[in-house]
Amino acid sequence: MSRNPRLLPLLSGAPVDRLGRTIRDVRLSVTDRCNFRCGYCMPAEVFGPDFAFLPRAELLTFEEIALVARALVELGARTLRITGGEPLVRRDLDRLVALLRAIEVPNGAEDGESIDLALTTNGSLLAPLAAPLRGAGLDRITVSLDSLDPAIAARMSGSALPLNRMLEGIAAASAAGFAPIKLNAVVRRGMNDAGIGALVDFAREGGHTMRFIEYMDVGSSNGWRLDEVVPASEILAAIDARHPVEPIAPSRPGEVATRYRYRDGAGEVGVIASVSAPFCGDCTRARVSADGHLYTCLFATEGLALKPHLRPVADGGALRAALAGRWEARDDRYSELRGAATSAGTAVTAGRVEMFRVGG
Ligand code: GTP
Ligand code: 5AD
Ligand code: SF4
Ligand code: SF4
Repeated sequence: MSRNPRLLPLLSGAPVDRLGRTIRDVRLSVTDRCNFRCGYCMPAEVFGPDFAFLPRAELLTFEEIALVARALVELGARTLRITGGEPLVRRDLDRLVALLRAIEVPNGAEDGESIDLALTTNGSLLAPLAAPLRGAGLDRITVSLDSLDPAIAARMSGSALPLNRMLEGIAAASAAGFAPIKLNAVVRRGMNDAGIGALVDFAREGGHTMRFIEYMDVGSSNGWRLDEVVPASEILAAIDARHPVEPIAPSRPGEVATRYRYRDGAGEVGVIASVSAPFCGDCTRARVSADGHLYTCLFATEGLALKPHLRPVADGGALRAALAGRWEARDDRYSELRGAATSAGTAVTAGRVEMFRVGG
């Protein structure tokens, strides 16, 4: 892979990994718990009532999360995304939003740069929280929405909560001023692929940006099979048949979704093709688990423990040095290597971190 000049550091001293990529986006997981059991992430058969999630004392406090985020901003990060599990199961999340909002970009006033603060949620607990989150300074919300058919939605989410709860969450986020809201659907063949058109219509009518995600072989529990993946080309054909679209440029380097706009001007739609068209070359994402490990790839087997630099007393300098050192050693490009490994039958899935620990 060639060094990509767009990804070279904008800040002197910002770490660059072995493939020329800087840190731009950070996904902060605040809990590994979730009130859903989506089969592609946390199947109920594996994550039953006795499953041992992280004990509370192991979770980073909001102050600790903010220290890690601040260190990563000093190293180049500009987007901070709060994730889970389901982040809204953690109480008082608006307090974390306020702490993250207070983080300033070094020389940001001169360069006109500020932090882009986002949240990914399943929407089920969002309705009463959308306005307080907005008030605390959250910029953007992404809601997972796999189907508008109540029975299919329930089957995919493994939850008895009515679909209406999620739709109320989306409506409350709109009313609180989040616009556009991104809606994510993971597409599984034979499950929700017939509902692509309905999701597109719903998003267009509400002024939201629908994004379809190829089902990924993340973690080692979801029993992923290639024949359940609906490739981006097929998803795009279904969108285009409903409402003709044309491609548009990425809004920034490293964006995961390929973007399209409706030819009739009614907004945009995205497809995340991490299986059929991997985007590792541009991958500027770092992930921090709720118990304070840094992961440099969604498919990593090991994270770097950050707690030694946070407890008993936080040491910002040591934390920054540890983060930078791990980033500089990074050569991850799992999705690019997957194709060859899958066809050769050499893919190893055991021991991979689960998606709900590193927030997608
Ligand atoms: P913005 O572009 O900042 O809005 O965020 P995003 O698209 O990164 O956030 P979102 O949480 O909506 O991510 C969408 C999905 O893309 C994730 O849940 C994953 O399924 C997938 N994805 C995100 N980052 C990666 C990545 O680094 N590698 C792979 N393989 N998939 C990713
Ligand atoms: N493949 C693709 N996307 C996934 N997500 C969770 N598991 C998978 C998977 N196996 C998505 C969720 C959510 C985001 C956080 O990750 O739908 O939008
Ligand atoms: Fe929960 Fe999101 Fe995983 Fe579904 S994809 S089980 S909502 S963390
Ligand atoms: Fe980044 Fe790893 Fe995803 Fe590739 S597979 S885009 S390196 S997180």
